[in-house]
Amino acid sequence: MVLQKLAVSSLFSPLLLWVLFVSGHPSLVECASRHHHHHHHRHHRTHHADDRRAVFRPTKMFVFGDSYADTGNNPKALANSWKAPYGITFPGRPTGRYSDGRVLTDFLAAHFGLRSPIPYRWREVGSKYVEHGMNFAYGGTGVFNTLFPQPNMTVQIDLFQQLIAESVYTALDLQSSLALVTNSGNDYSAYLAKNGSYEDLPQFIIQVVNQLVLDIKRIHSLGVKLIAIAGLQPLGCLPRTTVSNSFRTCNATANSLVTFHNQLLQQAVAKLNNQTRSSPAFVVVNLYTSFMSVLNGKGSTKFREPLTPCCTGINSSYSCGSVDETGQKQYELCKDPKGMFFWDMVHPTQEGWRAVFAALGHNLKQL
Ligand SMILES: *[C@@H]1O[C@H](CO)[C@@H](O)[C@H](O)[C@H]1NC(C)=O
Ligand SMILES: *[C@@H]1O[C@H](CO)[C@@H](O)[C@H](O)[C@H]1NC(C)=O
Ligand SMILES: *[C@@H]1O[C@H](CO)[C@@H](O)[C@H](O)[C@H]1NC(C)=O
Ligand SMILES: *[C@@H]1O[C@H](CO)[C@@H](O)[C@H](O)[C@H]1NC(C)=O
Ligand SMILES: *[C@@H]1O[C@H](CO)[C@@H](O)[C@H](O)[C@H]1NC(C)=O
Repeated sequence: MVLQKLAVSSLFSPLLLWVLFVSGHPSLVECASRHHHHHHHRHHRTHHADDRRAVFRPTKMFVFGDSYADTGNNPKALANSWKAPYGITFPGRPTGRYSDGRVLTDFLAAHFGLRSPIPYRWREVGSKYVEHGMNFAYGGTGVFNTLFPQPNMTVQIDLFQQLIAESVYTALDLQSSLALVTNSGNDYSAYLAKNGSYEDLPQFIIQVVNQLVLDIKRIHSLGVKLIAIAGLQPLGCLPRTTVSNSFRTCNATANSLVTFHNQLLQQAVAKLNNQTRSSPAFVVVNLYTSFMSVLNGKGSTKFREPLTPCCTGINSSYSCGSVDETGQKQYELCKDPKGMFFWDMVHPTQEGWRAVFAALGHNLKQL
């Protein structure tokens, strides 16, 4: 498996034009070089003359998005994330996380020495934890409505705004807060399921990124100081895509669409930061590059069959966690989840996330 170059295909010629247009745009280049001048050292707080940015120490974290960030918001009746073997590695039982253990939210919180924020649905029973922030992410959702009924990102931000209106969080709280926003492709799955037209996808990608940009601006305008936005991971490498070639190679066409999404996002974020006084207020977490480097064996952990998922359904590949009427498992589990990158057809294992997080490297220092 190799890092994918942009696919050249007649079917996707409109896309190719878009990609060339976007990547040739000067502000992208500017954005990349600007960040290289902003080294700072979180742990070794050496202060060089050119190191003018104060180290930001968030005390709270707010999370918006989908299953890459959800730590338990989806209802138990609806989500396999509440069924065994989800959570088998950590904490040893299902917690509503879409993995065998910790997910992106948990690793980012730990990076800042924070407690992983409590899911919105547990805010009353776990009220003593509310001060650490809150997780509004719901697995299956997008910026627009998807095939699932859970709150889209607009509604998730409405819930956050409501808590601010109720003075659960004050302006002072928000000043020392960090947001994580994930948007991992559910809008695109829903679009393809509803519309089915690949030709129109570039146009839809523009709509999704535009809506995502409105959402992150709104989170910032509510007072959150720093916003980490997950770039789109290589959808063409997810087991649900590579199942058709027995988990051997990534689909370059799908990944070129992801590249287009990410370039639009980087460009929009560079523009936002340029317009924002506290700079940078928005940082794209480059999941594409970090997934790719881990999948290509360059990460801190080497995964033997990096594209093969640990847990797959017997009859439907997606039914990790399902049982039949008699309680018989309808899935197969690998022997060693800690040695696998992918957990199910869409989500990394805890070790997978750990490796991705480590591979972010310099990107994290921008936060
Ligand atoms: C989010 O969901 C609400 C409720 O279904 C809907 O009214 C709204 O239009 C959705 N927002 C977007 C951006 O699609
Ligand atoms: C679905 O595809 C058609 C063309 O096949 C296009 O005209 C239409 O705008 C698309 N629908 C949406 C919601 O994007
Ligand atoms: C990649 O995905 C596209 C869209 O689903 C599909 O048309 C194409 O055949 C796939 N390519 C390969 C090499 O599997
Ligand atoms: C930032 O803003 C300045 C002045 O408004 C403009 O000249 C420059 O092109 C902008 N840069 C980016 C990356 O948008
Ligand atoms: C799933 O597959 C197993 C074995 O192939 C079969 O016995 C079972 O009836 C299937 N279950 C469903 C719900 O189709």
